[in-house]
Formats: sequence, C-alpha cells, structure tokens
Amino acid sequence: MTAAAPVREDAATTTPALEVRDLVVRYGSGRKARAAAPAIDRVSFTVAPGETLGLVGESGSGKSTIGKAILGLQPPSEGQVLVQGRDITSLPLRKRRGLAADLRVVFQDPYSSLNPARTIGQTLVEPLPRGTADATTRARQALESVGLPGDAVDRYPTQFSGGQRQRIAIARSLVVRPKVIVLDEPVSALDLSTQAQVLNLLADLRDEHGLAFLFVAHDLGVVRFLAQRTVVLYRGQVMETGPVDDVTLHPRHPYTAALTSAAPVPRPAEQAARRAAREALGIGTAGAAAPSPTGCPFATRCPLATEVCTTERPALRQVGASLTACHHAEELTA
Ligand SMILES: Nc1ncnc2c1ncn2[C@@H]1O[C@H](COP(=O)(O)OP(=O)(O)OP(=O)(O)O)[C@@H](O)[C@H]1O
Ligand code: SF4
Ligand SMILES: [Mg+2]
Repeated sequence: MTAAAPVREDAATTTPALEVRDLVVRYGSGRKARAAAPAIDRVSFTVAPGETLGLVGESGSGKSTIGKAILGLQPPSEGQVLVQGRDITSLPLRKRRGLAADLRVVFQDPYSSLNPARTIGQTLVEPLPRGTADATTRARQALESVGLPGDAVDRYPTQFSGGQRQRIAIARSLVVRPKVIVLDEPVSALDLSTQAQVLNLLADLRDEHGLAFLFVAHDLGVVRFLAQRTVVLYRGQVMETGPVDDVTLHPRHPYTAALTSAAPVPRPAEQAARRAAREALGIGTAGAAAPSPTGCPFATRCPLATEVCTTERPALRQVGASLTACHHAEELTA
C-alpha cells in the first residue's frame, strides 16, 4: 500500500469541500424521542478539497447517521451541512438532484448496492442527467479509471466478484465527476488483499481528481492508510480529532486508546502488546450501562473516570496535536 498523500498546502485557506456544523440528529418523533439521547450530538468537522477525513468509532457510534444526514437521507434536527460553501441542510431530496454531481456515496455492501437486473452500463449512466450525449463513453471511461474493461458496460453484477463490484460502485460515483464522496465502510465487506487494492485505487483517484473523502470505518488501521485527519466518535459525540498519525500513535482520549489497542494489526507480537495495554487500562465493553446525560458519554467504561466526569460534559480542547474531549487527558499522556 502507498502512504496517505499530504493535504495541499492551500487547503486551510480554501473553502472546505464539505463542512458539518454542530450537527444534531434525533431518530423518531414525539416526546419520548426528544427525551432520548440524540444519535448525533453537536458534531462539527470540515474536509478540504483533496483531503480524506476518517470517521471512526465502534458499531452504533453514529458514523452512518452522519453520512445519511450529509446525503439528505436523514434530516438533521439541528446544525448545518455545507458542500463547497453552500448550505444544503434544508434542501429537499428532489432539489438535491442538482447537487448530485458534487456529492456522491459508496456504501459498504457491493452485493446489495448494485441492481442485479440492470447492466453495469445502465447502472453507471443512472446518475447522469437524462439525455447526456456521451453517457456511454463516460460510463466506459469511469470503468477504465477503476481498472475494469470498458466493455463491462454490457454485463450484469452477478458476473463480477465482490472487489470488482465495489470498483463498479466507485465508478458509478465518479461518472458525474463529484467533489465530495462519502465512503461508508467501502472495504469492510472485502477480503484483505482486495481491501488493499481498493484502498490504493481510492487514494489514486483522490489525488488525481482532487476529491474530498469522508471515509467511514471502524478500523483505525484502514483509516490511517487513506486519511490525513480523523474524527473519533462515541455515542454520537466527538471524543478526539486531529492528524491521523497523532491520534493513532499517541491517543489523548481513553476511548481512542481502547480503539487503537483493539484494531487488528498484522504482527502478532504487536497485537498481543496492544491487548495487554488495553487490559491494563481496564476499559469496559461496548455493552456498558448508559452514561449520565450531563457528563462524559464514556464515563461508565472509563478507568480514569472521576466525579467530574459524571457531572460535566468535557469540551473539546487542544492536547498535543489533537483536540480531545476528556477532563483527564493529561493523565493518559503522562
Ligand atoms: N433508522 C433508525 N431509527 C432509529 N435509530 C437508528 C436508526 N438508524 C440508526 N439508529 C441508531 O442510531 C445510532 C447510530 O447508528 P449508526 O448506524 O449511525 O451507527 P454506525 O456507527 O454506523 O454503526 P455500524 O458500525 O454498526 O455501521 C445507533 O444507536 C442506532 O441504533
Ligand atoms: S472525561 Fe472522564 S470519563 Fe470521560 S474519557 Fe475522560 S477521564 Fe474518562
Ligand atoms: Mg454504519
């Protein structure tokens, strides 16, 4: 695998390709839903053109919900979503068609995301405006850019492997020449060697076209390969965010420490050392009791928790190179 590309130097001064501001998402309606903890609770981040932002967290932390809110599939309860500086939060789905060219998505499962009754060509031209003159040529070009032959347009999804189908799904997102792609666990259904090929392909496409990726994954190792920065999510809240190497190698939040020690690594000795470190930290399991709504969401699992952790929600603050939401972050880094 090749390393994550550096972000362009002018990235900080250009308009973000994607911006999420103070996003809150509540599922359901009525008093009961309003009383429950939101699935996403005041999440903010930006992704620059040409940059990949990793979004990590264990199952149920809210990663896909953020993706759905960005794509307009789940209306935000509060906050804003901006694409290339344009506020799209309240745009109804039908008006988003005009946006389709800027914002695309690739889902996890390449088996269910392609219609088996349609040829690859029919699937690929779907996102293009009706009557696009060179639609088939563009479909062929998109297939070739993901390493598949252009004549695959005449074949059906069942004639392709999982990895090839995910390439087709990526080609479908590219055919409209987007600026931002939300990748929701795009390689987690693939075997390890195919994962590496698809990740390399994504890195090449990003660098060639200056694409911005929001890359959703539960595996920090995968995120580290593709992303420059990452956001660590727990119970819908940002626990830590910063340069991906700093967050992975020097976690400043006990939850990130738990995630990094749980991520599978290819070397058994390192894996054993991480497991021992995790056990030494005494971090609880995902099924822990619900935390107090006023305090830190991780308090019921955290070995460093004290009284203040159950009464005051820690704000994100700078610790080292990262922003961390932990009252006792310095104890972890000591
Ligand atoms: N349609 C829905 N209605 C009600 N609650 C939902 C719905 N979709 C998700 N949730 C809840 O929102 C929370 C976040 O779910 P989400 O699917 O965003 O998590 P995730 O991080 O993507 O998990 P995974 O890694 O398993 O894909 C979970 O508690 C989940 O049960
Ligand atoms: S704020 Fe307290 S409970 Fe939350 S992660 Fe930090 S030490 Fe643990
Ligand atoms: Mg998900």
